[in-house]
Amino acid sequence: MKHPLGVTINGVPYDRVVESRRTLLDFLRDELGITGPKKGCDAGDCGCCMVLIDGVPMHSCLILAAEMEGRQVTTIEGLARGDQLHPVQEAFIRCGAVQCGFCIPGIIITAKAFLEEHPNPTTDEVIEAISGHLCRCTGYLQIVDAIMAAAEAMRVPPQHA
Ligand code: FES
Ligand code: FES
Repeated sequence: MKHPLGVTINGVPYDRVVESRRTLLDFLRDELGITGPKKGCDAGDCGCCMVLIDGVPMHSCLILAAEMEGRQVTTIEGLARGDQLHPVQEAFIRCGAVQCGFCIPGIIITAKAFLEEHPNPTTDEVIEAISGHLCRCTGYLQIVDAIMAAAEAMRVPPQHA
């Protein structure tokens, strides 16, 4: 069975027809070519597929595309403003928190939403916030450092010349 779908993704409106059983993750990756969200487990266990739905982080592998009617979806591709990376993205680069990168788009999405709610987190709170994400490469230390650095950067008002 197919459903009409009107959804806004990274600020761009899309009108498509989707299969009832198509996940949001497959819709993003296979139909729209938005490949930032990764397919790790396809079962809600790894966090690689995390996206923001109306600002709330959710696993796109567990959600049907047809449920997204009228919603705002943000993927890692939607965080930068032109050439200006989001402070969380900049902090991950600065802190060397990216190795293979497979887990990183999902973690950055979670971190962004977390820091907006918790501008002054403790290290333990950051560890708890990303506890649903699996990373096979980094050992998590640099990732936690990057999120703490991003928190600081997001608290500092931008300097204007
Ligand atoms: S691919 Fe969705 S949680 Fe692993
Ligand atoms: S950087 Fe490779 S899985 Fe996290």
